[in-house]
Amino acid sequence: MKKKLLALFTFMLLALLITACSSDSSGDADEATDDASKDDSGGGSTGEVEIFSWWTGAGEEDGLLALIDLFEEKNPDITIDNAAVSGGAGTNAKAVLATRMQGNDPPSTFQVHGGEELNKSWVAADKMEPLNDFYEENGWMDKFPEELIDLVSSDGNIYSIPVNIHRGNVFFYNMQVFKDNGIDVPTTMDEFFAVADKLQDAGVVPIALGDKESWTATQIFENVLLGSLGPDDYKKLFAGEIGFDDSRVVDAAEKFGKILDYVNEDHASRNWQDSAQLVANGEAAMLNMGDWAKGYFANDLGLETNVDFGYFAFPDTVGDFQIITDTFGLPKGIDNPDDVKEFLKVLASVEGQDAFNPLKGSIPARIDADPEKYDQYGKDTMEDFKNSRLVPSLAHGSAASEGFLTKTNQAVNIFVTQRDVDNFIQALVSAAPEM
Ligand code: GAL
Repeated sequence: MKKKLLALFTFMLLALLITACSSDSSGDADEATDDASKDDSGGGSTGEVEIFSWWTGAGEEDGLLALIDLFEEKNPDITIDNAAVSGGAGTNAKAVLATRMQGNDPPSTFQVHGGEELNKSWVAADKMEPLNDFYEENGWMDKFPEELIDLVSSDGNIYSIPVNIHRGNVFFYNMQVFKDNGIDVPTTMDEFFAVADKLQDAGVVPIALGDKESWTATQIFENVLLGSLGPDDYKKLFAGEIGFDDSRVVDAAEKFGKILDYVNEDHASRNWQDSAQLVANGEAAMLNMGDWAKGYFANDLGLETNVDFGYFAFPDTVGDFQIITDTFGLPKGIDNPDDVKEFLKVLASVEGQDAFNPLKGSIPARIDADPEKYDQYGKDTMEDFKNSRLVPSLAHGSAASEGFLTKTNQAVNIFVTQRDVDNFIQALVSAAPEM
């Protein structure tokens, strides 16, 4: 009898549990359906947001940490998991991300360049939620430049939110070294090579390079390409309307090779920060780097803008602006879209952008941020952005697919040691169908 009673009791307990669980899950489902009618992603909160990026270490992470602090201040109930993977330009992070996305294990949100890196990799694979309603609800449609919204859109849907705008066609230089050698800022390639010769004769390394990760050399090449082709034809090149065997591309490869004659011998063992140090300490004069280098000089090395280091547009590209934009979106299939949206709101806010960008060296993506929060470099760059012809960067994911970029980086890497223009051009021509 006792056994029967125990069995009955156990059965009732189980039944109760099952009912509780199923009403729980149907509650979730209702909630999800309700939210789905409000936005595209469905509801869901876990109280945690994993932020995936490649912003670790000097010159990279301070902006992100400031943004995280601001978020945590505003959202004490949501914990941030900073899942950054080191390696400039996403050298390692992009591979880790690809494995996770393919295994249906997306981070809550991840750093991705506007343009083809976002569109051809993740939007085309149907891995991202459209954010049009989210933009409308928050009144962001006229708060970001149209060109930028275009870069993060595909077929009329917006898929991510830009936190910044970096400029890629900048040379930073050591002001004391220029002064000691009586050098004026060059604006054309001819002037630039004359400056490089003068510096070399004086025993200074003219150009610092750290191409342990080959994107830094690819970045130089894309800037030479921009100078050779001009902004319209540069865009046509990546739209497949001009071939990589065009004489101006060959000319760019030759000039790129010539630039490599002026770099430090140990370039292959340095990363971008190590190469920037050469300019900071006066061993080298100039560095072509995206303006995260400004963040590094000013914020990490304590150098003063326009006192210790100056800047000028990459020769022959004055009036053009090589755009690099870091953006974050909402991957499909995550269980905490509500929490992620809270993070995205902070990242998209004026306050968030003005906390992040002065440290990162970039300018805000929003048009209504506060210029007074930025140094002279930032102010000048904001002006240049408004008045320049904008072009997408290849080395930083906007101009072409990841497949093409990987092959270009490989070809550049070989070119840096072999200097064989024909081989280089041939490699680009063969990779072009993957663009
Ligand atoms: C770029 C990225 C920048 C900066 C840089 C160096 O691709 O957009 O924010 O991190 O790489 O790692």
